Amino acid sequence: MFEHLKEQPADKILALMQAYKDDPREDKIDLGVGVYKDATGNTPIMRAIKTAEKQLWEAEETKAYTGLAGDPKFGDRMAELVLGDAVPLSKVARVATPGGTGAVRQAFDMIRMANPDARVFVSDPTWPNHLSILKHMEIPHVAYRYFDSETGGVDFEGMMSDLADAKRGDVVLLHGCCHNPTGANLNMEEWKAVADLLNKQGAIPMIDIAYQGFGDGLEDDAAPTRLVAAHCPETLIAASCSKNFGIYRERTGCLMAIAHEEGRHKVNQGTLAYLNRQNFSFPPDHGARLVLMVLGDDALRTDWEAELEDVRTGMLRLRQQLADELRERSGSDRFGFLAQHRGMFSRLGVGPDKVEALREKHGIYMVGDSRMNIAGLNEETVPKLARAIIDVGI
Ligand code: LMR
Repeated sequence: MFEHLKEQPADKILALMQAYKDDPREDKIDLGVGVYKDATGNTPIMRAIKTAEKQLWEAEETKAYTGLAGDPKFGDRMAELVLGDAVPLSKVARVATPGGTGAVRQAFDMIRMANPDARVFVSDPTWPNHLSILKHMEIPHVAYRYFDSETGGVDFEGMMSDLADAKRGDVVLLHGCCHNPTGANLNMEEWKAVADLLNKQGAIPMIDIAYQGFGDGLEDDAAPTRLVAAHCPETLIAASCSKNFGIYRERTGCLMAIAHEEGRHKVNQGTLAYLNRQNFSFPPDHGARLVLMVLGDDALRTDWEAELEDVRTGMLRLRQQLADELRERSGSDRFGFLAQHRGMFSRLGVGPDKVEALREKHGIYMVGDSRMNIAGLNEETVPKLARAIIDVGI
């Protein structure tokens, strides 16, 4: 049987992680995988998480199964974190999932079940794993224009024109904040226009929100998702706790399916639980429990929010420093978009030859599409990157 298997293409982001590890140069810089790093290059366990872990170790009395949706209180807290009071909880079906990727995968499964003819519209570019999972599941996808590499911003006209091709029952995948890989985001007026267009077309928004708190703050980052969820009759939301709680390897995420129509909630909740059962049965609990503890305890929550805010503002300072260095070295404003972008990533908008030159000549590792993880920098490495960018002729 196994002789029928073919070698699968390596995931580009994960392959880059390995190439970086294998590079013996001491002054190499890793701007690859989307993992937060402090100025020393460490990915810290957040203080509130560490405290919650200690408390959990003392207090936890069983490792028996939770439920197919995970602990329901985790789903409640996540719905509150992401949605605020934009939608009543009674309209939000919600389950814990293994990470944000698990939520994305389960959402695609639900889409396929509800409408086998649905096409999923994805931004050009999007997180490569969106495409890989869709391909693996044989769900057709359509790219919509998104990034304008001339300006480093969003090609909003192109996006709207492409989304006008979405048909009733198609799904449009949107990044709730901190677009991955570009860092370029819509403003609230544009979000409203997108929601109106989807409603007109009868298409369903699916929002992947993996970086809440990394852009303009916890509330501002959730605002577009809240607008869409309040405005559209049905919305899917895949939320990740990997980055904003720093619990990457614990695989903690939440899938929400919102339906405003009366009577839909019960079937949606049952479908999400059913799909969990088919794919992995019970979702992992450890990370979800830590998140639940942090969100449910005033002191832990305050500490978590303060640390997250430090992470966010630290990345903003690095963005500004890089944009300033590049303005000085290039004598132009053409890198100004780096300070405008939000979240962990910025896309430089250059070809693979330049990305390769940065890697070969300067030991600077970024994803082949010129996505940089801003958190991979520190005050000392920013000037080095700026010098290298100019050196390779960007
Ligand atoms: C990324 O985009 O680098 C992260 O979301 C990590 C991953 O799994 O690809």
